[in-house]
Amino acid sequence: MRHLLDTKTLSREDALRILDVAEDMADAQQREVKKLPALRGKTVVNLFFEDSTRTRISFEAAAKRLSADVINFSAKGSSVSKGESLQDTAQTLQAMGADAVVIRHGASGAPRTLATSGWITGSVLNAGDGTHEHPTQALLDAYSMRKRRYGADSRGRDLEGFRVTVVGDILHSRVARSNVWLLNTLGAEVTLVGPPTLIPQDVTAWPARILFDLDEAIADGPDALMMLRIQLERMNAAYFPNEREYTRTWGLDADRLAALPADSIVMHPGPMNRGLEISADAADSPRSTVLEQVANGVSVRMAALYLLLAGERNEKEDAR
Ligand code: ASP
Ligand code: CP
Repeated sequence: MRHLLDTKTLSREDALRILDVAEDMADAQQREVKKLPALRGKTVVNLFFEDSTRTRISFEAAAKRLSADVINFSAKGSSVSKGESLQDTAQTLQAMGADAVVIRHGASGAPRTLATSGWITGSVLNAGDGTHEHPTQALLDAYSMRKRRYGADSRGRDLEGFRVTVVGDILHSRVARSNVWLLNTLGAEVTLVGPPTLIPQDVTAWPARILFDLDEAIADGPDALMMLRIQLERMNAAYFPNEREYTRTWGLDADRLAALPADSIVMHPGPMNRGLEISADAADSPRSTVLEQVANGVSVRMAALYLLLAGERNEKEDAR
């Protein structure tokens, strides 16, 4: 594996390898000295053209805990405002010796362009591109589901038969897309539920069941209910009458939370619109994995960086 661009083309073997190495990374994070020397001498660049809290910070923490040097670039405050192109920005980073570029971009496909352009020689990790994919988010979600299901004994296991319902703004969600592909690869059963206006037209080609009634989806007893943020910044039209109506029909409130099976978990990739798609009762309940997802994100991103960067060095060393 040279790049991590999507989950659609990620093999089951590579996905499980990332999840298993993430378990090792999580174990190492329990030690007093959290830093591992694995990526000493490597440079990881965080290239963020869209805002981020969790992904940017956890990639930075992950790279630092592996002893890599980290350069953080955010488009705000950079020469992008002077019209500099992705190509020139990438070539500038290449000249600074980036071994890996973690990129978040508003344009779907920007990470693949970077990986295949020849502008840079390092590995490319997609940290969210437009409405296309957010592969490390899906991997940390799968890790969190596996952990809740199998606990300490989750290494090597997939999510065969695990039932996941993803709710809300599927249309604009790269998290939903990455989850659909990865969960399908890992044997889980995916249901998507939301207003018809927020379900993409090409959904019939996805390996998922579609419902238009949240209460019916909850009565079906999913193992995990994943609430998605309403992505107002990507909406240029009215996709639902008003926020109150959305919350009433599509929000996870205390009553719907109580209607879920006792052992089902509530997930949200963050950032949450509290009171819109998820109520405080649901977000802060013991069933919510929101903060676990964030913590697991560091281990999963450590695993991805390690496998892309240290793996490459080991292969070179092995070849010698
Ligand atoms: N943070 C996730 C993303 O960037 C989900 C969201 O913003 O709603 O895709
Ligand atoms: N879940 C997620 O990607 O969060 P950020 O947008 O804060 O990185």
